[in-house]
Amino acid sequence: MQEFVNGRERWATRIGLILAMAGNAVGLGNFLRFPVQAAENGGGAFMIPYIIAFLIIGIPLMWIEWAIGRYGGYHGHGTTPAIFHLLWRNKFSKVIGVFGLWIPLVVIIYYLYIESWTLGYALKFLIGLVPTPTGEGSPEEYMKPFKEFLESYVGSGDEFITPSLYAYIMFLITALINIAILIRGISKGIETFARFAMPTLFFLAVILVVRVFTLETENGSAIEGLGFLWNPDFSKLLDPAVWIAASGQIFFTLSLGFGAIITYASYIKKNQDITLSGLTASTLNETAEVILGGSLAIPAAVAFFGVANAVAIAQSGAFNLGFISLPAIFVNMPAGTFLGFLWFFLLFFAGLTSSIALMQPLIAFFEDEFGMSRKASVLSTVGIVFFSAHLVIFLNRSLDEMDFWAGTIGVVFFGLLEMVIFMWIFGGERAWEEINRGGIIKVPRVYYYVMRYITPLFLIVLLFTWAKEYVPSILAETHWTVWVTRFFLVGLFLFLTLMVFLADKKKKEAGVE
Ligand code: TRP
Repeated sequence: MQEFVNGRERWATRIGLILAMAGNAVGLGNFLRFPVQAAENGGGAFMIPYIIAFLIIGIPLMWIEWAIGRYGGYHGHGTTPAIFHLLWRNKFSKVIGVFGLWIPLVVIIYYLYIESWTLGYALKFLIGLVPTPTGEGSPEEYMKPFKEFLESYVGSGDEFITPSLYAYIMFLITALINIAILIRGISKGIETFARFAMPTLFFLAVILVVRVFTLETENGSAIEGLGFLWNPDFSKLLDPAVWIAASGQIFFTLSLGFGAIITYASYIKKNQDITLSGLTASTLNETAEVILGGSLAIPAAVAFFGVANAVAIAQSGAFNLGFISLPAIFVNMPAGTFLGFLWFFLLFFAGLTSSIALMQPLIAFFEDEFGMSRKASVLSTVGIVFFSAHLVIFLNRSLDEMDFWAGTIGVVFFGLLEMVIFMWIFGGERAWEEINRGGIIKVPRVYYYVMRYITPLFLIVLLFTWAKEYVPSILAETHWTVWVTRFFLVGLFLFLTLMVFLADKKKKEAGVE
């Protein structure tokens, strides 16, 4: 059943909306990024800032994004250039809003590629085309075949990278799968898929967690891994780097500051609840992250290699824990290649429900602002992503550079803008009413002050600390591949800005605005 209000589609059911939003948030970040961040930042030392960041950044910003999106939606807009202009009648608001298109576009360019590895790996494990570890030896020796496996998959090289043909084909297939879902639209495509994928994903994760916790080796057990994560360590609380990492993870895992939640929220009906639904979707994501994501890669690595080695592995590279250690551990167990398949299939589903969410802002932009058909919007968006991804696939350092500007710094900056525009410029009381309208629960009043004062201040401090810590080393980076990527990113921003102005011009000529 498809519902339209003013020519824009709506979510058909509340459970579908919540699962789609949870699917938006639950992604590779929960199972790959979270364990690495936690291990790198001292396990128990990481969890306190992480929980605080969830309470004072995650939850309030989630409500704000749902409210901004629903507000835009019933005025006929699903993306921030137009929505910011509704909230703030000013020339600049549209240009600032371009970040809400640019960030998800840049992130999906590399996210889709990583997602395609999980599909490629899942299929290889399913048919058993994987290396066998050569028995004992040091952790490095033990994992060496899997390290080589990853290298031959994605390719290596200091400047140009040549991936395997298989990897390239898997990328193509992943793009097509995304098209197949998106082209069916919001309720028939995204919602229907989320209603099937999210329960499956939780089920797969539970099976794997149970397996990891029945794992015992002479080096330890999974329980020790939990101890590492959950024994609070107060000694590092004064280290700003831990706070930056924890807040960054909250943004990334909850998909906040990307514009993607806003776009999904624009398909909510005008008076439908967002307070309880937003909280539920966030809670589902946190369950998937700290309970499931926290009980897989780290506990398994600790049980198998001991705490010190597990930490060293996590620090050695973002993908080593998930793409090298964990499969190497699984393969050693009974039915190991099948467990490996379940792991990568879990990642693929987690990635897929997120990648469609990252695509949707640009799709919505083409539909809402240019009046393009859904089919044309989906094909143009995936086409742009597919084409741009070649930079990431073939050029070293490009992926990290994009992740840094859009996925790390950009989101905090944009999250701050959203908060200031909504809670200050649009107006605190108006915003508060907008959040609570139709709400099944009423947001505790203390959050009004959190949203207006505490979170924005916290984000400002965060951005400054960040700039002080990292900007010097960023500017010192001179490799040409980095600069090519930076020029490309600026070009992309200008392209989107131009599109926003063209859309305006078109509407004026048609006499709409
Ligand atoms: N939250 C997703 C994850 O944990 C990644 C992500 C970040 C995302 N921003 C997003 C997904 C925006 C969809 C939309 O992996």
